Amino acid sequence: MYNIKTSLLNKKVLITAGPTREAIDPVRYISNHSSGKMGYAIAETFLKHGATVYLVTGPVCIQMIPHQHLKIVNVNSASEMYLACCQFFEEADIAVFAAAVADYRPEKIAKQKIKKDDDSFTIKMVKNIDIAFEFGRIKRQDQLSVGFALETNDEVSHAASKLARKNFDMVILNSMNDANAGFGYDTNKITIIKSDKTVKQFQLKTKKEVAKDIVTEISGILSRTSFTSVKRSEHEYENMYR
Ligand code: CTP
Repeated sequence: MYNIKTSLLNKKVLITAGPTREAIDPVRYISNHSSGKMGYAIAETFLKHGATVYLVTGPVCIQMIPHQHLKIVNVNSASEMYLACCQFFEEADIAVFAAAVADYRPEKIAKQKIKKDDDSFTIKMVKNIDIAFEFGRIKRQDQLSVGFALETNDEVSHAASKLARKNFDMVILNSMNDANAGFGYDTNKITIIKSDKTVKQFQLKTKKEVAKDIVTEISGILSRTSFTSVKRSEHEYENMYR
């Protein structure tokens, strides 16, 4: 049972999902274990409620059933993901940043396969663009943005600081300390932190059920008659949740 508080019909939702792959040479890359299941489950839930979904996804093994209100853009690297999001962000009412974007990429991509000539091998990595941060900077007050935070320690405090830094209205915290939750699992255990300072913990559930909880919380924020997204300083958030 879930209770969508406001109509999501015709709302436009940008969702990033899955991992990114950062090429080393034509046959190798650096990536992570993200399955994309959470982002895809959120996309399905929005579609069920009549929203239009732009799903910008890294490489995953999930087959989405085609839908007239679903546009999927497949990407590999973080910079490709950012460029794809640029096409849709302005018209989006809601942006959900569920992708596990690689924070760094190799500075140079070798044009040919790297040969194992030496005993050791070093790759210089440079920082990738932070997609959620960039869109957080230009977000309008009528746009709602949602991020994820995967943390190992001081979870709520770190997630709250991400909420402020990336100008999210809501952040979904996954703790690496929770069994059967996070990367690869079909289940997840989340805590939702909102810009109105509320912190809500949920039980371990299937990712499809978690997606319903997330979409319900988003619709709850939108149902406030005068929804405008808030911006506070990072310092203010860190102190609020200590
Ligand atoms: N994110 C993003 N682009 C990046 C890195 C992260 O859009 N280059 C988004 C993720 O999709 C997520 C949120 O930012 O919604 C937080 O991601 P996370 O990896 O937990 O945070 P980082 O900013 O990378 O911080 P750190 O790895 O230092 O904890």
